[in-house]
Parts: sequence; structure tokens; C-alpha cells
Amino acid sequence: MTSTSDLLRARYANKYEESGLSALASSNAVLDTLFAHRSVRAFRPEPLPPQTLEVLVAAGQSAASSSNLQVWSVVAVEDAARKERLALLAGGQQQIREAPLFLAFLVDLSRLQRLGEHTHRPVEGLHYLDTFLMGVIDAALAAQNAVTAAESLGLGTVYIGALRNHPEEVTAELALGSGVFAVFGLCVGWPDPSRPASIKPRLPQRSVLYREQYAAHAIEQDVSSYDAAMREFYAAQSLPQASWVDHSLQRLRSAADLRKRDRLLEALRGLGFQLR
Ligand SMILES: Cc1cc2nc3c(=O)[nH]c(=O)nc-3n(C[C@H](O)[C@H](O)[C@H](O)COP(=O)(O)O)c2cc1C
Repeated sequence: MTSTSDLLRARYANKYEESGLSALASSNAVLDTLFAHRSVRAFRPEPLPPQTLEVLVAAGQSAASSSNLQVWSVVAVEDAARKERLALLAGGQQQIREAPLFLAFLVDLSRLQRLGEHTHRPVEGLHYLDTFLMGVIDAALAAQNAVTAAESLGLGTVYIGALRNHPEEVTAELALGSGVFAVFGLCVGWPDPSRPASIKPRLPQRSVLYREQYAAHAIEQDVSSYDAAMREFYAAQSLPQASWVDHSLQRLRSAADLRKRDRLLEALRGLGFQLR
């Protein structure tokens, strides 16, 4: 069992005291689960225990929801052929094939659309950007609760944003109707201990935490020490040494670097979202 301070040391690349966390008043199992998070991309083939899916969905549904509209849903995929097709649509990501369970988290405006039709009441508000955003937020909160629940059970997970690379094809594969959009996926399975994942360091808190008012400040020093920590992290994992600065700026360099998602607005409109 790793101690809370060891988890925080890993999270802040041995600099957690600098983040004002040395006087951490308390720790508990929930905090330790959160601090221990790491994305898992290598899974054992064993199936999940019965009811795991239902427990994860209950955790997801226990998250807060904007105005309790619950404008999200999830499709659970276990069929190997369907996972294979989704893996190809998501850039060939092997973890989708390996994970016994793949969850597609959805913005789901269709339930309330149908309720409006059924009750002959207008639902004009469904067509505005803010309502779509509510669905994205609800889906993300639900998914993160499911992630924490899975990790508390010893399972591993990794999000798959690449599910947005081919929105029309994913919509067809999952038979999503009008008003439903797959916002990201989540692989769930038993972590393979022969290919372990580690806690990935984050920026120091002073880079992300502002008190009372936002105040953009010089970032060079924080970023260069974080970059060094990330190089060490990748070296320890025998992965190609990647600079966080290079990786982040390259990822956002141009529309072409958005992995086809520069056409997302057009795709959403084509799928029937007005986003006024
Ligand atoms: C919305 C979202 C989408 C992501 N998409 C992918 C993905 O398509 N493939 C992947 O391997 N990891 C994906 N990730 C995982 C991130 O790469 C990972 O969370 C990040 O590098 C931090 O590492 P950690 O989760 O191990 O702390 C995604 C994460 C989020 C939050």
C-alpha cells in the first residue's frame, strides 16, 4: 500500500511540499484512489466480475447533473468485432481491443426531445449550445465518477477522445439516433501487471491555482522544471522521451494537428445538432 505522501510525491514529481500540501490534514481511501490515478492502456484478457457495468453506471449516475436534466447516456460495448471497428475508427488504439469493456459516453438530448414530442410541449432550448455543453459536462462528470469507482475496485481505465475522430461512422456503429453524440470513450479492464502504468506528474499547483482573481504570470520556470520531470517520467518507463512543451504545442499547432476534429462543428450540424 503506497502512502498518501508517496502518491503526492509522484503526482508533483517530488515537489509536492512546494505545492503547500506538506501539511495535508487528512487522507482517506477516496483521496488515495484519486491521487493514485493513472491511465491504463494494457489489460489482461479476463472478464470483469458480474455487475461491474451496473456498479460503474450507478457511480456515473450519482454524479451531479446540470438542472438534473441527465442529458447523457452510455453505450457498453463488449463485442470483440464492434470493439475492433471502434478501435480502427479511433486511430487503431490497441487498448480498445484489449479491454473487456468499452464505454461510449454520450451527450443525449434525444430523451428530452422524445419527451417533448410525447407530451406535445416545445423543447426549443435543446437546440442551443449551452444545452449541448450541459450534455458534455454531465457525460464527463458521470464518466469520471465511473473511473474513480473502477479504480477503487482495482480496475484500470483510459479515456478515448479519439472517438470524435470519425463522428458519423461512430454514430452509425453505435446506432445513435438524432440528438445523441459520442463525446468520448472509456476502456475498462484489469491492468496487466507485466505492462504497468505509473502516476504521471502534473504541473505545480502554482501554475493552475489562483486565489480570488486570475493572474497570468510567467510560466517559463514552472514549465521547464515540469518538462524535466516529464522527460524523467518517460525515461523511467522506457518510453520515447517527450517534452511536454513540444508535445502540447505540436498538438495545437494547426487545424491539421487536431486529428480531424477541426471539422467537428460541421459534423455535429450534419448529425442534427443546431448549436445556436
Ligand atoms: C477526454 C480525454 C480523452 C483522452 N483520449 C485519449 C485517447 O484517445 N487515447 C489515449 O491513449 N489516452 C487518452 N486520454 C488519456 C490522457 O492521455 C491522459 O489522461 C493524460 O496523458 C494524463 O495521464 P494520466 O491519466 O495517466 O494521469 C484521454 C484523456 C481524456 C481526459
